[in-house]
Amino acid sequence: MSLDFATNLVDVDLIPRGKGPPLDLFARWRRDDPVHWNPPPAAGSYVSRMAGTTMEKGFWVLTRYEDVEAVSRDQDLFSSWLGSPIIWDYSGEALELQRAGMMGMEHDRHLRTKRLVTPVFSPKVLRDLEPAIERVAKEIVDKVASAGRCEFVFDVASRLPVYTFCRLLGVPDADRELIFELGNGAADTENGDSDHQQVVARLMEYATNLAAEKAANPDDSMMSKVVNGEVDGDRLSPTEVAMFFVLLSIAGHETTRSTAVHFIRLMTEHPDQYALLRSDPERYLPNAIDETLRFSPPVIKFRRTATRDTRIGAQDIKSGDKIYLSYPAANRDPEVFADPDRFDIMRKNASQHLSFGVGPHFCLGARLASMQLRHLLLQVINRIPDFRIGGDVTYLRSIWFSAIMNMPLEFTPEKP
Ligand code: HEM
Repeated sequence: MSLDFATNLVDVDLIPRGKGPPLDLFARWRRDDPVHWNPPPAAGSYVSRMAGTTMEKGFWVLTRYEDVEAVSRDQDLFSSWLGSPIIWDYSGEALELQRAGMMGMEHDRHLRTKRLVTPVFSPKVLRDLEPAIERVAKEIVDKVASAGRCEFVFDVASRLPVYTFCRLLGVPDADRELIFELGNGAADTENGDSDHQQVVARLMEYATNLAAEKAANPDDSMMSKVVNGEVDGDRLSPTEVAMFFVLLSIAGHETTRSTAVHFIRLMTEHPDQYALLRSDPERYLPNAIDETLRFSPPVIKFRRTATRDTRIGAQDIKSGDKIYLSYPAANRDPEVFADPDRFDIMRKNASQHLSFGVGPHFCLGARLASMQLRHLLLQVINRIPDFRIGGDVTYLRSIWFSAIMNMPLEFTPEKP
């Protein structure tokens, strides 16, 4: 099938144009061409760029739920390590760095790293952390509630994930603003200049210093456990430790923030659903968060690479081919979700969404993210319930993350 540039997924203007991923296009492909060949961009055309990478190879786009799920589960046939889990083309040192991150590992190395870090996300750790998360969620809303307006993304949504990340990793309070700034800088992955690389380098440097501090003075923080922990007599290398920190500073922050922002946006767009939610927030909120994740996933895609010749559906795939896993498309597959374009906070199977991935690389922070969202959004709904959009909403220029960068809100000020 031949395509003009207007339908190439590496065209960053496809994403913000429609306020999010190109769902119409995904729906068409799911119906007519479910394993769709996306060609490399034409020479000289503007594409989304990640510093240190190229985009010379085309890729197969998966839009059916069952394909995204099956490929994600099969790491023997579809590797996150071979070409990294990221759709751009990496080589040399940049590829090795991706492989040092957990998402880019596979098999034994991945399992060992997982055994090291999974206890830090255990239900008991989360239970112990919950009162602090609840308190900080309240403090964040305290700061804006009496003003009658706020810029929701950075005044509210971004704060709790950064606080939680710092607390979990054992970052001193004094460095929280720095991590806030670097985390936000790191999220702007595709501006094509070297700013992003510099931010990542600063995060790596910070992580290396923190690791040295935790090696000298172990405590019960996640960073200390990752630095000092051993599995089968093996430790993470310094680069792996630093990449773990960088991964979490992006994976744990921007995604959670964006979900909170999409949630508020969707409530303003679906007043009937919001009225239902407000009738009993404690009861409806958990499923409303899952429905938000299904409807507007903050991560648009990850990638796998075929390790040998195979087939997906009726399509031959060659060893080395890149595969694009479309989470927004899988989440709207009518085979799994009835009337998928309807935003329905009562949807029975909303939690079947694939926005946290599935299989060996399933998101380690899924429960933590949901817990933070519950506390933060409950504060917003209970204290500034009549929020409305009070200005222009701007989207991140990205083909990877569906993120809003600016969303002014107005509301009746809370009485002191
Ligand atoms: C709404 C919020 C979040 C979303 C939508 C999200 C999404 C994802 C997705 C799609 C993957 C799978 C990647 C793949 O299959 O290649 C993933 C993996 C991961 N996420 Fe999240 N994430 C969120 C929050 C968090 C948080 C809060 C943390 C930690 C503080 C976190 C840590 C991780 C880690 C460590 C992995 C790698 C797991 C592995 O490779 O085994 N995430 N996430």
